[in-house]
Amino acid sequence: MRWTVLTLICCTWTAHGLIRIPLRRMLSVRTQLRASNRLEVFMRDHQPDVFNRRYAQCYPPGIPSLRLGKSSERLYNFMDAQYYGLISLGTPQQNFTVVFDTGSSDLWVPSSYCVSEACGMHHKFKAFESSTFNHDGRMFGIHYGKGHMLGIMGREILKIGPLTVQNQEFGESVYEPGFVFVMAKFDGVLGLAYPSLAEELGTPVFDSIMNQKSVDQPIFSFYLSKSKLPRDPGGELLLGGMDEALYSGPINWNPVTLKGYWQIKMSSIQVQGALTFCPHGCQAIIDTGTSLIIGPTRDILALQQLIGATPTSIGEYLIDCARLSSLPQVTIMLNGVEYVLTAESYVRREMMGDHEICFSGFQAEDLPSSTDPLWILGDVFLSDYYSIYDRGQDRVGFAKHDQCLSV
Ligand SMILES: *[C@@H]1O[C@H](CO)[C@@H](O)[C@H](O)[C@H]1NC(C)=O
Repeated sequence: MRWTVLTLICCTWTAHGLIRIPLRRMLSVRTQLRASNRLEVFMRDHQPDVFNRRYAQCYPPGIPSLRLGKSSERLYNFMDAQYYGLISLGTPQQNFTVVFDTGSSDLWVPSSYCVSEACGMHHKFKAFESSTFNHDGRMFGIHYGKGHMLGIMGREILKIGPLTVQNQEFGESVYEPGFVFVMAKFDGVLGLAYPSLAEELGTPVFDSIMNQKSVDQPIFSFYLSKSKLPRDPGGELLLGGMDEALYSGPINWNPVTLKGYWQIKMSSIQVQGALTFCPHGCQAIIDTGTSLIIGPTRDILALQQLIGATPTSIGEYLIDCARLSSLPQVTIMLNGVEYVLTAESYVRREMMGDHEICFSGFQAEDLPSSTDPLWILGDVFLSDYYSIYDRGQDRVGFAKHDQCLSV
């Protein structure tokens, strides 16, 4: 009898600290462009250097307090972003759709003062309508690839599902570069990486959540569904722990090697019966805001060849859909555990008109790294494995998706 009561107390208490945020899966910018036959033109017009020249003259000249953060290629990564969730800022609440991004640390949404085309297509934060808004006054800039986003900073009440975060620092963008944000189905980004990666001054959202003791454990986890059916949930972000209903088997942990991104050691990546890449180990960033698996150009080109992927004029790699069942498995080795990706996992299928086309889920990009070669494990990997991010012990865990759910 006593035992039953104890169990009850334990589980009610645990459930109390868990915040469930449903994620929706929507069409990425790339998919939308492809479906409307505009992808090739877009890619030709928006090669980084062209992009740079076109928008260079648009930057406001010399804002003294403007801080420009570390360069990254995230604008292009967000072209493929697919999983979004809802947050609100202010009183009364103003709703925004954001990418919950483990590959950055800032929170930003479009400002009502933004006149960029992209802002016209999205929800904009109206500071003057909120009774809880605190003006900060500092400007910020975030490099997105070769474009800059510019904005002003403020503090607000942030709501994520049932959870309330007081006095959250965030950015309101007043200038959004380029075309990717115009077509994006999300309004802004909520970064979940370490404070050292924050390009705005201030405390990242999950650090605020930990400081305000709004969750029992300093842990969050992602379930990203593979299902493309509109009626299926796209996934779940769980704040405060992990959802045992969504995975099975043990959790395999990996210590964070550098606290900026969620960066861990990758022992190797191997194509079945063939080459092993990074045989002496490399580093991997676990990134929900990136869609594919990204690696050094030399390795990825060899890998594309091994899986029979051929390049298109705009740098994508096509695979013959009829050959999927004969393609080799790709095995990623993390901390002594093998993570096997079959072609069903690493090939993206998309409709173009009435026929299906298949793309390699691997992409080449040489990321600057002070340590070993850097890879990014994005949604291609994370939609096969439940991922757990532990700020208490600075580690990332992976577990098998529950089979029944990951159809
Ligand atoms: C904001 O989202 C919440 C939760 O979905 C909803 O109940 C509310 O009506 C929304 N508010 C506005 C102004 O759209």
